[in-house]
Amino acid sequence: MDFENLLYEGKAKSVYQGESENEVIVKFRDDMTAGDGARKESMGQKGYFNSIISSKIFETLEEAGVKTQLIELVEPCVMKAQKLEMIPIEVIVRNIATGSIVRKFPFEEKAPFNPPLIQMDFKSDEFHDPTLNDAIAIALGIASKEELDEIRDLALKVNDIMSAMFKDAGIILVDFKIEFGKDADGNIVLGDEISPDSCRLWDAETLDMLDKELFRQGKDDEVIDAYEEVFNRIITDEDKAKWNL
Ligand code: C5P
Repeated sequence: MDFENLLYEGKAKSVYQGESENEVIVKFRDDMTAGDGARKESMGQKGYFNSIISSKIFETLEEAGVKTQLIELVEPCVMKAQKLEMIPIEVIVRNIATGSIVRKFPFEEKAPFNPPLIQMDFKSDEFHDPTLNDAIAIALGIASKEELDEIRDLALKVNDIMSAMFKDAGIILVDFKIEFGKDADGNIVLGDEISPDSCRLWDAETLDMLDKELFRQGKDDEVIDAYEEVFNRIITDEDKAKWNL
């Protein structure tokens, strides 16, 4: 695998030019950050679990008709993906109120959102990811009204598919963040990753956290066990055979 032409380095992944112009190679690293990158640690095996969990979720979404940038998981930590021009919006879908939404607004902790609440934040470290509305997104030239509507429809579809997938694994999908980009033809395609770094996942029986919130709360020694638990619950023997795990 050619890891020479680095296109972009994010907080947890590095993106390299792929073999053809429209392909990239995404390397999942073990780095974990919190508080706009204020705290950074290396978490052994995180890249391994996240790359596989993310590939499994993207494949499940593809099967249900959602276009994703995944081409294939080449090996653990290494994903071949379609090159996208990313839209700088963090699309957050919430089924249960927790996290920043209860710090910023008078929602009761753990109150369900029905229908799910969709929030769009401007992806910008410089401006600390402020919450957008359509008028601001359009005025910034980030997306058109039609594109914002399409993004919301896709986000709700992703939520339905993922909620069912996690429910079967005894996990509640509390909330998550996804990002979209445009392919060479201008189609809106799901990009980035979906993993315990970008979702809140609670055990359906105990309500134990199985995601990055553990790291945000300083429970660093519980993080990898939680990610492995998610892996064990959603990755089948068939997946393991396919990916030589
Ligand atoms: O912190 P907040 O409550 O806004 O997070 C909502 C969801 O979005 C959580 O699942 C969190 O993991 C995810 N998120 C993310 N990246 C960010 C902000 C939030 O993956 N920069």
